[in-house]
Amino acid sequence: MQDYINDIDGVRGRKIVLGVSGGIAAYKAAELVRALKHLGADVHVALTEGGARFVSALTFQALSGNRVWTDLWDGKGDAGMAHIALGRGADAILVAPATADTLARLAQGRADDLLTTLCLARDCPLLVAPAMNRQMWEHPATQRNLATLAGDGVLVLGPATGEQACGEVGPGRMLEPEELADAMLAFFTPKLLAGRKVVLTAGPTFEAIDPVRGVTNPSSGKMGYALAAACARAGSAVALVSGPVALPTPAGVRRVDVASALQMRDEVLAALPDADVFIAVAAVADYRPATTSPHKIKKTGETMTVELVANPDILAEVAARPDAPFCVGFAAESQNLDDYAEGKRQAKRLPMLVGNLLADGLGGDDNTVVIYDAEGRHPLPRAPKGFVARQIVEHLARLLPQA
Ligand code: C5P
Repeated sequence: MQDYINDIDGVRGRKIVLGVSGGIAAYKAAELVRALKHLGADVHVALTEGGARFVSALTFQALSGNRVWTDLWDGKGDAGMAHIALGRGADAILVAPATADTLARLAQGRADDLLTTLCLARDCPLLVAPAMNRQMWEHPATQRNLATLAGDGVLVLGPATGEQACGEVGPGRMLEPEELADAMLAFFTPKLLAGRKVVLTAGPTFEAIDPVRGVTNPSSGKMGYALAAACARAGSAVALVSGPVALPTPAGVRRVDVASALQMRDEVLAALPDADVFIAVAAVADYRPATTSPHKIKKTGETMTVELVANPDILAEVAARPDAPFCVGFAAESQNLDDYAEGKRQAKRLPMLVGNLLADGLGGDDNTVVIYDAEGRHPLPRAPKGFVARQIVEHLARLLPQA
C-alpha cells in the first residue's frame, strides 16, 4: 500500500471484525490484517473451524495484537456470549475470505457457528470478499445467495478474475489484501462527491527534443494521484490524465497516459464533457521544443540551441470556457507563496487554488499546503499527501455548487 495515497484518518481507530472462513485464500487474510493495522484499524479476528485448518489462530493473534475468537461457546466473552462481546462497538464486519458455504449460511440467516451468529447479531455494516473456485462462483445457487445478501444490504467486494489455486482460470479469486484495505478505506469515507464527475491532471509532462531526449521536470505525480484516489473514495467518477510517472492507478480511477502538454490538453478536453470538477495538479512544462527531430540529434559542437515555444495553459483554457466545471489549480512556489498563488488564482479565474512552498522540493510523501479561495487563505497542517488530499476534497465539496 502506498502511504502517500492513504487518508490516515479514514480507518484509524475503527474496530473491524475480520471473519476468516475456510478457503485457501485464508492465507491472504493474514496480510489483510497487517494492511488494516497499517491504516490504524483495531482488528479482531473471528476464525471459523475451516479457516483454522488453513491458518492458525496464533498467526492472527500475533498480527492483530488481539485475541482470536474461534468458538461460539467460548466462556471468556461477556457472560459466555462471545458473539456479543466481539460485535460490541464494531464499526464493520468484513468476511474475507467468504467461502461459498459461508455465503450460503449468511444468506439463510443461520447461526450455527461463531462467525454466522456474530453476523446475525450485528448492528454494524457487513462486507464480504468471496473466494472460491470458478464453478462454485458461477453456480446459480451461489449467485442466488449473493443476490439475497446484496438485498439485505451486504456489500460484496470482488471477486477478481484470474488464476485460481485449483489451477483453473476465471472469476472467484479473492481481492488482494491491499485492494480490500483500500475498499475499507473507501467504505469509511463520506461520499461528499457522490454523483459527480472529476477530471484531474497529474505528474510532469515530457516534451520530446528527439526520440531519446526531452524537456521534463521531477514531479512525482503523488499529490495528483492521492487526490484522484480521494475523489474516488468520496464517490465521484474520476478520469486521471497522467504524465509519465511510476505510480499504480488508484482504485476506481480511469487513467489516461500522456507524455506532452499538447497530448494532455487533448485528453483533458476529451474527458471534460459532463465534468463537474477539473483539478489541474500536473506540472505542465511551460515550453516545448519548437520542432521534434524524428532522428537522434548528433553531437556537433560545444553548444546546442533548442528553440522553445509556449505550451497552452490547459487550466486557464478550461476555466475560461462558458461551460467551465468547478476549476481547482495548484501552484508550487519557491517564495512569496501568498502573493503568487492568490495572483494565479485570480489571473486564471479559479474559485480555488492549492499552493505549496517548494521548501522540500518535489516528490515527497508529505505536503504543506494553503488553500486560496474567494474567502481568503486556509492553511492546512503538514501531513501525508493522502490526508491533505481528503482535506482538499472536503474544502472543494463545500464550495461546489449544488447539483
Ligand atoms: O502558472 P502556473 O504554471 O504556475 O500554474 C499552475 C497551475 O496551472 C497548475 O494547476 C497546473 O496544473 C496548471 N497548468 C496547466 N497548463 C499549463 C501550465 C500550468 O494546466 N500549461
